[in-house]
Amino acid sequence: MDDIFILGIESSCDETSAAVVKNGREVLSNIISTSLPLHQKYGGVVPELASRKHLEFLVPVIDEALLAAGVPLERIDAVGATYGPGLVGGLLVGLTAAKGICLARGIPLIGVHHLEGHIFANLIGSELEPPFVSLVASGGHSHIVFVKDYGSYEVLGRTRDDAPGEAYDKVARELGLGYPGGPVIDRISQEGRRDAVAFPRTRFEDSFDFSFSGIKTAVLNYVNRARMTGAEICVPDVCASFQEAVCEVLCDNTLKAAAAAGQKTVALSGGVAANSRLREMFSKRTARRGMKFYRPAPVLCTDNGAMIGAAAYYAFLKGRVSPLDLNAYATLPLEEM
Ligand code: KG4
Ligand code: ZN
Repeated sequence: MDDIFILGIESSCDETSAAVVKNGREVLSNIISTSLPLHQKYGGVVPELASRKHLEFLVPVIDEALLAAGVPLERIDAVGATYGPGLVGGLLVGLTAAKGICLARGIPLIGVHHLEGHIFANLIGSELEPPFVSLVASGGHSHIVFVKDYGSYEVLGRTRDDAPGEAYDKVARELGLGYPGGPVIDRISQEGRRDAVAFPRTRFEDSFDFSFSGIKTAVLNYVNRARMTGAEICVPDVCASFQEAVCEVLCDNTLKAAAAAGQKTVALSGGVAANSRLREMFSKRTARRGMKFYRPAPVLCTDNGAMIGAAAYYAFLKGRVSPLDLNAYATLPLEEM
């Protein structure tokens, strides 16, 4: 079979990204431009600002992705673009550009679910194939997904309130560590004691669901109480203890859900999957249980076009082509792909 080249486009949040992926697993280019500095002073992504930046960045990012890959647009077989869930203004920018290319070239458009993209980052450069169970933990999502086959998903657990990345971002803001909070808490935690503060771990009986609002509030209360009483707080200890509680719940629930689904292979995806403690904890616990463990390179954990190109490749093989009037959606169920 001839090589298949997919152009992957991602624009659901603050990253504008385009990538060329060969045969689903080989990344020839993955250009990521972010409007993050613009949002930092607001402590979170401002949708309107993000949309305008996508509009400005997208065409140069696509050009650069094709150039860096050494693959001309005429050689691209299909375009994969995120169509939800995410910020609709940004999604429309990426999706509309993808439609334009497909219409001009007469090639298929493949709408990709953002979480499907995150999960498929695990197939890049690896030999992983379904079935497996993947945790998707990011700024907006927290799902345990049973990947039964390509395009066949069952959500085994999800957050009932905040996503873990959101908890990281809010705790970091309270501690004055800036935005986004994940990478900085990850770094500072390395100098702290994980057992310094006993923050709560929320678990539900007969469910693999998560809840992170309790731990977020517990950290904020701890910090405010210290401020009011004039007690000194050790920021690395607070970070390490918070991180340990979040990672424990993510790891426990994912491994329990995998066991319940009869699966011995687990994967990590989403921005929080870049976390060094989460990766270490999964690595140790899966090894102890004789399970296989996959995680993407950190750059493929946070939003990027390569993961969208990788997911689109398998949809392309199955003939899952989207109509050119495909809409963008702020919320989108994963099971219906
Ligand atoms: O997947 P992503 O880029 O965007 C969404 O789809 O939400 O994830 C971004 C989230 C942010 O909340 C960020 O704080 C978190 O991922 N994050 C991390 C790390 N790197 C990024 N969280 C913990 N540890 C990290 N090293
Ligand atoms: Zn994401």
